[in-house]
Amino acid sequence: MDRLIFIDATMREESRTRRIARPIIAELGKRYAIETISLDGAGFPAVGSKILHERDNGYVPEEYAEMSRRIAAADRIVIAAPFWDMSFPSALKVFFENMSLFHITFDSDDTHCYGLCRCSKVLYITTRGMNIHTGDELEQATPYIRALSRLWGLGDLYVVSAENMDYSSPEEIEKKIDKAVSEGLDICRSF
Ligand SMILES: Cc1cc2nc3c(=O)[nH]c(=O)nc-3n(C[C@H](O)[C@H](O)[C@H](O)COP(=O)(O)O)c2cc1C
Repeated sequence: MDRLIFIDATMREESRTRRIARPIIAELGKRYAIETISLDGAGFPAVGSKILHERDNGYVPEEYAEMSRRIAAADRIVIAAPFWDMSFPSALKVFFENMSLFHITFDSDDTHCYGLCRCSKVLYITTRGMNIHTGDELEQATPYIRALSRLWGLGDLYVVSAENMDYSSPEEIEKKIDKAVSEGLDICRSF
């Protein structure tokens, strides 16, 4: 069975983003072996001088190197992350920093960097409090994920979002969640 890594960067018990992701992951679970990486409380360190020094000396914690290798070998990646401070939670950025490893997720030659990942499709699921659409200049999560996908060689990026969640009635929120789930399930058909 092909392998899918689900990076769960949702941070609230009642997360709307996770409510959208859950049925989509359940559907994909019929075709993929799912590995979930939950970032809430995972405690990945911000990369600073100590870690860079260790890397320069050829040391990366085996647990991180192994996880990075599993990401590089995954056939599909799904990311669920709420829209925070016009982007995604820093826990996700810090996770990417720790997983972005030379010779594992990307490599370089004399002239350029290139991705080493097997994945050919990424699905990014989010909900936003404000009425900000995917691709809006105020929306700085998708451009980053797209750029990292390019660095790692992850292939096509699909985005499912629900917007204006903090200014919608409970009924409207439910409708938006249902619509996003149905869009996600549509994407699943060819994902
Ligand atoms: C720490 C924090 C920062 C947020 N920053 C933004 C923001 O910059 N723009 C925005 O539209 N919504 C922002 N929101 C609102 C969330 O995007 C919105 O409530 C979303 O639906 C939360 O997703 P969740 O239910 O999966 O946690 C923020 C919420 C939190 C808790």
